[in-house]
Amino acid sequence: MADIKKMNIPLLDLTEQYKTIKSDVDEVLMKVVESQYFILSPEVGALEKEIAAYTDTAYSAGVASGTDAIILALKAAGIGPGDKVITTPFTFFATAESVSALGATPVFVDIEPDSFNIDPDKVEELLRTTNNEKRKTIKAIIPVHLYGQCANMERIMDIAERYGLKVIEDCAQAIGATRKGKKAGSFGTAGCLSFFPSKNLGGFGDGGMVISSDEAFINRVKRLRVHGSREQYVHEEIGFNSRLDSLQAAILRVKLRKLDTWLDGRRVVAKRYDLAFTGLPLVTPKIDDGNTHTYHQYTLLADERDRLMKYLNDNGVGSRIYYPIPMHLQPCYRDMGLKEGSYPISESVCKRALSIPVYPELTEEKIVYITDTVKKFYR
Ligand SMILES: Cc1ncc(COP(=O)(O)O)c(C=O)c1O
Repeated sequence: MADIKKMNIPLLDLTEQYKTIKSDVDEVLMKVVESQYFILSPEVGALEKEIAAYTDTAYSAGVASGTDAIILALKAAGIGPGDKVITTPFTFFATAESVSALGATPVFVDIEPDSFNIDPDKVEELLRTTNNEKRKTIKAIIPVHLYGQCANMERIMDIAERYGLKVIEDCAQAIGATRKGKKAGSFGTAGCLSFFPSKNLGGFGDGGMVISSDEAFINRVKRLRVHGSREQYVHEEIGFNSRLDSLQAAILRVKLRKLDTWLDGRRVVAKRYDLAFTGLPLVTPKIDDGNTHTYHQYTLLADERDRLMKYLNDNGVGSRIYYPIPMHLQPCYRDMGLKEGSYPISESVCKRALSIPVYPELTEEKIVYITDTVKKFYR
């Protein structure tokens, strides 16, 4: 690329986002600091109401992280030692880890090749071919709305109803995504959000939220997040210390007002990539029927993934592999005895997936530089 000046474009640049909201964020941060009210303040309550309204769920509970949101939601759904929970092997580790953290066991089901989300046909097949006694130990399913688009929720809800399974949606990457007009997190028993800084709605530290249309369920999560207690120093059950803090809530309230504009901005960048990469030996993201994609990641599949990644890096374009190792091949799950070949689609995607920058602050010049760099690699 001798004729093009080298640029440096990280996979994500949160400083660019901060510049656009700095005065509002700084103002609310100072208000919290001056109030000295840091844990479960009215800011948290206000954010809970706003997120519940935004996700069409009615109730929500702010917690310390997306991981805790899944753990507390599973526990509130009655999941515990000896139970099994169906989920995808192609996700961030926290999904499976949350199941294991409660003494339950994840049961993996492979993904659809296009959406990268859990395949309902394979879920159905697993349940149909498992004998009655074993099937009774399967209590829930965690669909993950990976990269920002919903799993096939109408099929999953239908299967869950027929087999009596709780559905806990992992929406860590998918706030604002819709399927047939319904918001991510509003289909199942509960949805779990992550406010990790790099998420589409990210705080200035860890944070998460459980959302649900079931008030009693959210009340149980609210009890679990404060040591299983409703009344101070009275502990009805063993819980956790997992609260969203007021500084995060105040920042997130400012950012929530911008979220839909930012999601549109991501879609604009994604569209540019889709067009620019047409004809290249790459697979661009597919949007499942009825879905809107929020592009938490714009993830390509490339047979020469590692060479492409190095080329992008050498030319100043950040990229990352989400995810290089499927859950069943993680060292900590070795004792499950699941070998390479157990979930071929997930394994294949792990070898080919590469995410490139898709944040809404990317300038025209940067978008052109990224698309030119990818095209140059294939020339
Ligand atoms: C799919 C998925 N599930 C769960 C989590 C856990 O969220 P957190 O990092 O906020 O604990 C993340 C994000 O990191 C994620 O991407």
